[in-house]
Parts: sequence; structure tokens; C-alpha cells
Amino acid sequence: MKVLVTGASGLLGTALLRAASQSGAIAVAAYNSHPLSGGLQMDVTEQAQVQAAMQRAAPDYVIHAAAFTDVDACEIEQQRAWDVNALGTKHVADACEEHGAKLVYVSTDYVFDGEDGPYSEEDPTHPINVYGESKLAGERFTLDRSDNAVARVCVLYGPNKPNFVTWVIDSLRTNTPINVVSDQYNTPTYVGNCARALLRMCELDLAGVYHVSGREQLSRYAFACAIADVFALNEKLINVTTTDTLRQQARRPMNASLRVAKAERALGMRLANVREGLTLLRDELG
Ligand SMILES: NC(=O)c1ccc[n+]([C@@H]2O[C@H](COP(=O)([O-])OP(=O)(O)OC[C@H]3O[C@@H](n4cnc5c(N)ncnc54)[C@H](OP(=O)(O)O)[C@@H]3O)[C@@H](O)[C@H]2O)c1
Repeated sequence: MKVLVTGASGLLGTALLRAASQSGAIAVAAYNSHPLSGGLQMDVTEQAQVQAAMQRAAPDYVIHAAAFTDVDACEIEQQRAWDVNALGTKHVADACEEHGAKLVYVSTDYVFDGEDGPYSEEDPTHPINVYGESKLAGERFTLDRSDNAVARVCVLYGPNKPNFVTWVIDSLRTNTPINVVSDQYNTPTYVGNCARALLRMCELDLAGVYHVSGREQLSRYAFACAIADVFALNEKLINVTTTDTLRQQARRPMNASLRVAKAERALGMRLANVREGLTLLRDELG
């Protein structure tokens, strides 16, 4: 199985390359501004670059993890959000069709408004920020072809790039107090586990929408406390706050947790809960 991984220089992409090498799949890395040795440069907003990369890689599957992921910046740079997340995905989907590859598009819990989580795949989408709207448009371009798949993930964490978990660990290790919201709930996703699930979606030729996040819902504050516990750090440095105090540019869904039962059944694998994911990360970080 040959897989082209877009966004291979990102948090999830790095885990996908590693999981592919462990599983024996051939992975071709595509990056944009952070070169990877042996990888292909491809700006998804440039259709010709996408076509050229597809021609060179000739993959059976594309796992499309590249995105403009800064949720607040998407509110300010709306055109870029559309160009990368929506139009870029259309370019990838079109190239897949032309080259006979199947597409697994990595999407987000932010396609939901968070009023009524946790959500299953059948629940209606209703994004409340530009990032969510642009990612949902990407889903629609993907699902224009019935044998493609959408894999929604939620609050990714892992070892290779800064993320919420590494921020909590770094802050507590340096005795820096942090404020964490107790009114936002989600299902955090350990990238190693998610990467294996995405590769398995390819192996099994799954089509349609799947939620492949972690399997446990909790508040950001509870998540931060679990991080402190697993990494033996001082929980007392974590202060509770609420979303309205943060004055973030983009509105956040309050509970966009994802139900993973459909994915677990289809994949024949159990997705990690919070403690399992954090323990795997702790082992990986040594
Ligand atoms: N992080 C989360 O908590 C989270 C939550 C829900 C869903 N997701 C989704 O999960 C996927 C992976 O997220 P991540 O956190 O791993 O992302 P990330 O670490 O922010 O990395 C983004 C990747 O996208 C690439 N990229 C950005 N603009 C591009 C462009 N114009 N053309 C081609 N590549 C471009 C970047 O390449 P360069 O660095 O080389 O420029 C980088 O490899 C994304 O689809 C995201 O929407 C993430």
C-alpha cells in the first residue's frame, strides 16, 4: 500500500510517517514550507503543484492532513482559510480522482457548534467559526466521490510539535501557573493512535465519515489535571478559568466531543482513552 501524506511536516503528519514505517506501508511525504528530506513540496492552493506531486508519488491512497490549523488566525485570514482548507482539499480530491487514488481527508470536531455534544457521524454539522466552515467545505469536496473518506479528529497531542499537552507539561515543569478553561469539553486525540487508525482506514478501504478521536470526553481543565497526574507534575499550578475570559478571536464550540463507536467497530480497534494516550506519550518522550 502506497500512501501520500499531506501535511507530513505537521503534528499528525509526523506521526503518520512513523506509523506507516512501522506498518510496512510505503509513505510519501508532502510538505509546504518545512522541507522534509525525500519529501515532495506541494502547496495545496496551487492546483498544478498538487497534480505534479500526485503524478510523481502515484499513491493508492492520500491521507490529507495539511490544513491552515490556527483557529483564531482563520478569522482574520478568511481567504487563506478557504484557499487552504476548502479549495486546497478540492485540488487534492480532483487529483485523486484523476490518478485513481482514494482520499482520506482529516477533518475536525469544529464542524459542530458544540451545543449538543458528544456527536456521532450522523449528527448535523453547524460550524460557528471560519476554520470550521472551511474544513466542512473540504469535507463536502471530499465526499463528492462516494469512495472517499472523512476522518474527524479532536485536540491532537503528540511529541513532535507544540500542542496543548506539551504546553501544560512545559509550564508545570518550569513552575509556571496556567489558566485552563473548565467549560470546553472534547475528546483529545493521541496522534500515534490516530495515525494507526487512519492507515487502517486505508487498508480497509473505508468510505464515508468516521470519528477517529480519543474515546473519552472531558473538560480542558480535567485534561490538564490528567496530564499533571500522568507526568507527575504539580496540579496546583493549574487555575480554572472560563472561555469568556480568554477573549479569543474565534468562537469555540463548548462541547464538540466525538463519539467513536462507529470507527471502533469498522476498524476493529479500540481508540485510546485519555490515560492510555498520555501514558503512550510519556513512554515515547522517555
Ligand atoms: N491540531 C488539532 O488539535 C486538530 C484538531 C482537529 C482537527 N485537526 C486537523 O488535523 C489535521 C492535522 O493537524 P495538525 O495539528 O497535524 O496540523 P499542523 O501541525 O498545524 O500542520 C499543518 C500542516 O499543514 C501543512 N500546510 C499548511 N498550509 C499548507 C498549504 N498551503 N499547502 C500544503 N500544506 C500546507 C503544513 O506544512 P508546512 O509546515 O510544511 O508549511 C503542515 O505540515 C488538519 O487537517 C487539522 O485541520 C487538528
